[in-house]
Amino acid sequence: MTTSLHQRPLPSAFSDRFPASLHYSNLPHRQISIFSRAGLLALLSLMLILGVIVPWADMPGGIFSANKSSVQQWRRYTLPQAVSFVAKNGTVIVCAVSRAYLPFLNNWLISISRQKRQDMVLVIAEDYATLDLVNQRWPGHAVLVPPALDAQSAHKFGSQGFFNFTARRPQHLLHILELGYSVMYNDVDMVWLGDPFTYLQGSHDVYFTDDMTPVKPLDHSHELPPPGKKGRTYICSCMIFLRPTAGAKLVMKTWIKELQAQPWSRAKKANDQPAFNWALNKTAGQVDLYLLPQAAFPTGGLYFKNKTWVQETKGKHVIIHNNYIIGFEKKIKRFHDYGLWLADDHANESPLGKL
Ligand SMILES: *[C@@H]1O[C@H](CO)[C@@H](O)[C@H](O)[C@H]1NC(C)=O
Ligand SMILES: *[C@@H]1O[C@H](CO)[C@@H](O)[C@H](O)[C@H]1NC(C)=O
Ligand SMILES: *[C@@H]1O[C@H](CO)[C@@H](O)[C@H](O)[C@H]1NC(C)=O
Ligand SMILES: *[C@@H]1O[C@H](CO)[C@@H](O)[C@H](O)[C@H]1NC(C)=O
Ligand SMILES: *[C@@H]1O[C@H](CO)[C@@H](O)[C@H](O)[C@H]1NC(C)=O
Repeated sequence: MTTSLHQRPLPSAFSDRFPASLHYSNLPHRQISIFSRAGLLALLSLMLILGVIVPWADMPGGIFSANKSSVQQWRRYTLPQAVSFVAKNGTVIVCAVSRAYLPFLNNWLISISRQKRQDMVLVIAEDYATLDLVNQRWPGHAVLVPPALDAQSAHKFGSQGFFNFTARRPQHLLHILELGYSVMYNDVDMVWLGDPFTYLQGSHDVYFTDDMTPVKPLDHSHELPPPGKKGRTYICSCMIFLRPTAGAKLVMKTWIKELQAQPWSRAKKANDQPAFNWALNKTAGQVDLYLLPQAAFPTGGLYFKNKTWVQETKGKHVIIHNNYIIGFEKKIKRFHDYGLWLADDHANESPLGKL
């Protein structure tokens, strides 16, 4: 995980930019005035029909309930409800974010919208500010699995509270698999340049990318790579695709166990990636694993550091990960420098609009 985003405390002005009044609730009135009487009647009957047919469980907080109590209503929205609402073709794309990440969330969402996959996105909100903001602007696309991240732990990257929090990600993914859905997890400091779904060939249990920087041949193996210096692989826990199979569930359960077996320590300031790699190591014989192609899914340690390689593999890149760099501002600047910061000039392409 690219947990390094967390090291900067939140600007206190942040919450002031999102007043509680719902822009959303004003919208229907303005639009209706444009319609003629006949058009208005047709619209009203359509709304009535939708209101009757569409079950509440599938569309909580749709445009019919954008009022103050809808904020309360989203706090009762559950992961099963959310997944069944956003899933397309039995598949969801998830991320887990706290409000410090909102600019990155928007950047990532714009890039996904360009691939027309945004409808499948579910934001697992780690705090209520994120839950409220996303659902207010994009009803149904955020869920919070209690407890919420408390503001103190959120800002302390490397702290035990922070570690405990990221340690819940495999639990959320396992839950989604147990509900019978396929799931793609992404860190939000990523940008899509293409559609990753066309790369999920075959019917393997778990698909992932390598975080190692050495250049591989274009036709490299799709097997789990051999262990590195620390006795384990350096597979990135930043981008994972899982099918709802026994194998994928076993990897998630083993990841959860590994996180418990090697708990946080002050010295290691662990994140969840080593535990994921040990889980892959321990389940390798029983699970069908698939390493995605490096040219399409390069680590930031390669993409941002080797211009020759980038030139050589031009047109093949699908997801760019802004890792191998520490700090919120530095990450934004690097995305800027490479033309991958879309959140300022292209906010109109985000389902959340400008933040
Ligand atoms: C507001 O939304 C809630 C939850 O959907 C609903 O029960 C309530 O009737 C709504 N109130 C108004 C005034 O529309
Ligand atoms: C839907 O999912 C199935 C099974 O995973 C896959 O083979 C198919 O290509 C998907 N269709 C679309 C439109 O994504
Ligand atoms: C983190 O989790 C461990 C083990 O479950 C627990 O003992 C500890 O109190 C938690 N720490 C924080 C700060 O949440
Ligand atoms: C698992 O890790 C051990 C210790 O580093 C190593 O000897 C073994 O080859 C690894 N197994 C796989 C499948 O990568
Ligand atoms: C950079 O990429 C080129 C072309 O793929 C490769 O030959 C070279 O070894 C790479 N340099 C480093 C430092 O990895």
